[in-house]
Amino acid sequence: MMKVGFIGWRGMVGSVLMERMLAEKDFSGFEPVFATTSQIGQAGPDIGMKIPPLKDAFDPAMLKTMDIIVTCQGSDYTKKMYPLLRKSGWNGYWLDAASALRMEAGSVIILDPVNRTVIDQALADGKKDFIGGNCTVSLMLMGIGVLFQKNLIEWMTSMTYQAASGAGAKNMRELVSQMDMIGRASEEYLKDPESDIADLDRRVLQTMNHERFPVQHFGAPLAGSVIPWIDSPMENGQTREEWKGSAETNKILQTKSMIPIDGICVRIGAMRCHSQALTIKLTKDVPVDEIRGLISESNEWVKVIPNTKEDTLKYLSPAHVTGTLTVPVGRIRKMNLGREYLTLFTVGDQLLWGAAEPIRRMLLILLDHISS
Ligand code: HSE
Repeated sequence: MMKVGFIGWRGMVGSVLMERMLAEKDFSGFEPVFATTSQIGQAGPDIGMKIPPLKDAFDPAMLKTMDIIVTCQGSDYTKKMYPLLRKSGWNGYWLDAASALRMEAGSVIILDPVNRTVIDQALADGKKDFIGGNCTVSLMLMGIGVLFQKNLIEWMTSMTYQAASGAGAKNMRELVSQMDMIGRASEEYLKDPESDIADLDRRVLQTMNHERFPVQHFGAPLAGSVIPWIDSPMENGQTREEWKGSAETNKILQTKSMIPIDGICVRIGAMRCHSQALTIKLTKDVPVDEIRGLISESNEWVKVIPNTKEDTLKYLSPAHVTGTLTVPVGRIRKMNLGREYLTLFTVGDQLLWGAAEPIRRMLLILLDHISS
């Protein structure tokens, strides 16, 4: 029976992956082996079947017995173990949620509802490294990938509204701690509806800028504010997150010539849904109804939201989308800039389609490929 090693299954992405695999009853037809970087010998997760105690995730001899390794452990682990395993001659499939190997020539960035043909070709060519994409890119492509596939996009800007979860579990806690501190500091003014709004405003601002306000992980207040910087700087003035928009989209789609994509990536006070406002320069004047039709038929998870206030408030927000696989695309309209300029807004759960779901689906594709 095929052996699949799971590493990093306890972290944020890993635990969402486990939840989804359990929900879809994926733990069958292969032998799962759970490894750990810190709790060797302890009991593994409850997956409804008997599994051996946790193995050592740093043991190359154990890893070499795997047909597939699925890691959500992060780039440091990948950088340490991947080269070691490949150098030792291990020829299994490496399925990774981290970014370390994404742009390597031999790697395929996976998002099967959008690039299944690229994945199938890679499998036929004997490629072995399949890597999950950047969450913002994957969510954008789940929403409007079809417009790229139909060659309708000349260039695009993506202005993002990224959730705390993209920065990590500690950041999610810090966001809520910030909200809590602001709430508690404002209590006396909130209780009294007659209180002066200027006093409430001043109290919020003082709290946010107080030395005890928790900013250890974000480096700045996020609750009541925004942080227009995500990841490390690039030489051209972009952040790495902004750079990924173009680099990864073009790699996922294997575009023949680079389609320019750029924008500003901004952290906002949502918990785990990323949102994006896109401006698209179309290659031709396509009617909005046609665009809506193309998007809504492109995959089973995308949902076109009518451009009304009522529908937008109800369906096009992190509050509505969190915890679901639905990718709503709304506010679709032509811009005053001209008939070839389209704008829209899309939202998606950063831990589902943005991270765990493409990995889960790719594991099934690999198991099917190996056994056929
Ligand atoms: N880099 C993303 C973010 C998450 O910071 O929101 C991972 O793709």
